[in-house]
Parts: sequence; C-alpha cells; structure tokens
Amino acid sequence: MVGSPTYVGTVDDVAALVSVAHEYGVPVIVDAAWGAHLGWHPDLPESPLALGADVMVTSTHKSLPAHTQTAILFAQGDLVDRDRIAAAFDGTQTTSPAASLIASIDFSRALLQERGHDLIGSALAAVGHARHVLRSTVPGLSLPVGRGMDPLKLVIGTASVGVDGRDVLDDLRCAGVDVESASRDMLIPQVTLVDDHDSLSELVGPLGASLARRAGAPRAEPAAHVWNVPAEVVCTPRDAAYAPVVTVPWSEAVGRVCAETVAPYPPGVPVLAPGERVTSAAQEALNQAQASGVPIAFAADPTLTTLRVLA
Ligand SMILES: Cc1ncc(COP(=O)(O)O)c(C=O)c1O
Repeated sequence: MVGSPTYVGTVDDVAALVSVAHEYGVPVIVDAAWGAHLGWHPDLPESPLALGADVMVTSTHKSLPAHTQTAILFAQGDLVDRDRIAAAFDGTQTTSPAASLIASIDFSRALLQERGHDLIGSALAAVGHARHVLRSTVPGLSLPVGRGMDPLKLVIGTASVGVDGRDVLDDLRCAGVDVESASRDMLIPQVTLVDDHDSLSELVGPLGASLARRAGAPRAEPAAHVWNVPAEVVCTPRDAAYAPVVTVPWSEAVGRVCAETVAPYPPGVPVLAPGERVTSAAQEALNQAQASGVPIAFAADPTLTTLRVLA
C-alpha cells in the first residue's frame, strides 16, 4: 500500500513499485486521496491507475469540487478480488446513501472529463504565478516545486523566513481567507481544479503581506522524527478496542500498550495506534512534533498530558 501524492505533494514512482510488486504477484493499492486530478493534464504526474496500480482510492473533495466525505475507489486487473472489495464496501456503508453526495461525485467526474484539461491548465498557471509573486514579495520563502512533486500543490515553508505559520493563519482569517492547514513551519492552501488567477490573487495578496511583515531570522526546521518510529505491535487494534482501558499521565505511559490513535496532523500518520507499545522513541517523536507547533490529532487528550492505555 502506497500513499501518493502525499499531503505535501510528493509523488512516488508508482510504476517502479508496481513492476516489483507484480513480479511477486502482489497487488498495489494506492491512497491517492490528494491526487484525483493527476493524469488529466500533460504538466501533471500520471495517475497511479494509469501506472498500473491495482486499486486506487481518491477523494473527490480535495482537488475536485465534490462535497466533503466523497471519494472513489477504482480497481483493475486480476490481482484483486472485486467481489471481496464490494462486500467490504457494503459492510461499511449506510443503508441510506445521500443522493446529493453521489451526484456531487458524478458532477466532479463529468467536470474533469469535459473541462479538466482547461481548468487544470488555468489552475497550474495561477499557482505558478502565485509562487512567483510570493518569491519576490518574501525573498527566501520555501516554495518546493519540481521533479517528484505535484505542481498543483502549493506548499509554503515558513521556517526559512522565521515566520510562525499559525500567526499568518490569524492574519489571513482577519482578511477573510482560510487555508487547509497551518503549523509553525508550514502553510498549505488547498488549490483545486476550479481555482484560477482571480481566486489565488485573493490568497496571495494577504498571504504575501503577512509573511513580509512578520519575516525575521531564519529558523532551522527540525527533522520530523514522526516518520521514523518503528511500531511495536502487542495486540490487534480489535483486541485493543475491546480491552479495558485506563488513563495514565503521559510521563508514565512508556511501556504500556496504547489504546488510542495519536497522530501529528499534518501529516496525519499515526505515531501510536491501538495495540502498540508506547516506546520512548514514540513519545520523543510526539513531544518534538508538538513542541514544533504541529497539532496532535485523534488522541483523547491532544495536549499529551495523559494517554489512554490498556489496563
Ligand atoms: C493521505 C490521506 N488519505 C486518506 C484521507 C482521507 O480522505 P477522505 O477525507 O476523503 O476520507 C486523507 C485525508 O485527509 C489523507 O490525507
């Protein structure tokens, strides 16, 4: 299972992964939540499906304009059993699906099919121009782009100009503009298929002004340890879900078995999941993420003062 593109717009070499996995008869499932638009314009990376992924799941409410909560699951080839997928799908669905959600998926699909090339072309030109304006307004600002990146994704690294992204978010909200996420070191406005020069100008004006006004001494960006913590699985998430649970002080949790999901968001990848041992490496990574201003998601106590563990 592969996540591509990632939340910060990096794109994996899905074709190479598929080629190796298929040699061993292993299907490749791609979480392309952020990549519904991939493959619909020559300046974009190819869609994981076109690169041979057996299954691809993509959100239709991130880069496409469908209602929140909507997504499409695609399957192709002989390596996956589509009846099993259908049964799993049915097992998790409401018996009263909302036609408005389904219609919004179909609207986005049709929009992509009929006008995707032109709309993405305008959005890409607008993002390119936004980067250019931000670069000249705020010299030294980090705006990663290039090979291995989705060019539609606008990622703004604020450490290189000594700005706290959360302060910029406050300024933006005062100006009536919101973004998808803001942490101390990073801002991500979610650019979509229907963005263009006008909509991005509404963001870039106040964003550039706030960054330029707050710019100061560059700050080192700490390496994110959250990606490197090995999981020590003690029991299945199911067993953890049915086990008796107690709440303990965070400082006394090392060695216990975690009863909840604890994920710095972004990136939203759990450092601890139900059934995993709370190691000192996991605690250190979470403490570091929190100290660097990344919100902690899914934990009952997002301040990390306490943790729910198996009794
Ligand atoms: C990588 C990734 N996969 C899946 C999801 C979930 O997608 P959805 O919001 O459509 O349920 C997210 C949500 O942000 C995500 O970042």
